[in-house]
Amino acid sequence: MPTTTQAEVCPLCDGTGWKPLAGSPQGKDKNKSTNNDRRVTRCDCRLRARNQTLLATARIPPRYEHCELASYTTDFPGAHPSLAFAQVSATRFAQEYDPRDGTGLLIIGKIGTGKTHLAVGIIKELMGRGIPSLFYDYRELLKEIQNSYNATVQTTELDVLRPVFESDVLVLDELGAVKPTEWVWDTVSLILNTRYNNKRTTIITTNFDDQPPAGANGAVSIARAATRSETLGDRIGERMRSRLHEMCRIIKMEGDDFRQKFRSASFR
Ligand SMILES: Nc1ncnc2c1ncn2[C@@H]1O[C@H](COP(=O)(O)OP(=O)(O)O)[C@@H](O)[C@H]1O
Ligand SMILES: [Mg+2]
Ligand SMILES: [Zn+2]
Repeated sequence: MPTTTQAEVCPLCDGTGWKPLAGSPQGKDKNKSTNNDRRVTRCDCRLRARNQTLLATARIPPRYEHCELASYTTDFPGAHPSLAFAQVSATRFAQEYDPRDGTGLLIIGKIGTGKTHLAVGIIKELMGRGIPSLFYDYRELLKEIQNSYNATVQTTELDVLRPVFESDVLVLDELGAVKPTEWVWDTVSLILNTRYNNKRTTIITTNFDDQPPAGANGAVSIARAATRSETLGDRIGERMRSRLHEMCRIIKMEGDDFRQKFRSASFR
């Protein structure tokens, strides 16, 4: 009967968690004088384990778990050119991620264009490189903070906010989806400003048009306000909207709801 320990020991690192640096001849021919390079690097088995831990704590909703940057298709009939551009920009953003920078991403587009898919694709890529990331739906986050005020609930506001403030990368999905109030605006600006001041990267998606609020351009827009759809400015306030422009690179995604185009196809 094979002993379990033998089966578990990683052949790359003998269970130490460290393997010879790639290209280092150490271990291949220990007798040659050129083989004194004893530099080591984290073994794949540890990186895999770390990636699993990060994925488990990132709160990615099950229905987005499948989303990868590479599985985002842009060559279907009628695909808007902005989608291919968005995929390239998202991929580059992940590649160029620099923890000392903190520049975020604002992904804007109608429902079903794949904003959440790309945002999740980015953090999955980053977690694969060991970078802690967190996913929060905007409504869910505000609800959790509000819940924490309830005296019968054990969690405090800071219990909810700490990981949101501290995660290296945060996806804030569907910014603006909650009916705006003074409290909502204060809370959102606290979160985004705190992260930005600490050079932490925030990836934001929104279904709202990146336009100022009604009335911002004078009486004419007030008159038109009744017929126009709500803008990002209406939902998060003009001050926060212009702050986002300083904090984020912007990706605009145009086109129809992907799910309606491919309802019968194998994409989900
Ligand atoms: N271009 C695409 N290629 C592959 N899957 C896509 C694409 N666009 C959207 N999807 C899929 O369609 C569903 C809806 O996309 P989602 O990212 O939720 O859109 P949005 O966040 O813009 O509303 C998701 O399951 C997503 O994986
Ligand atoms: Mg979405
Ligand atoms: Zn190993």
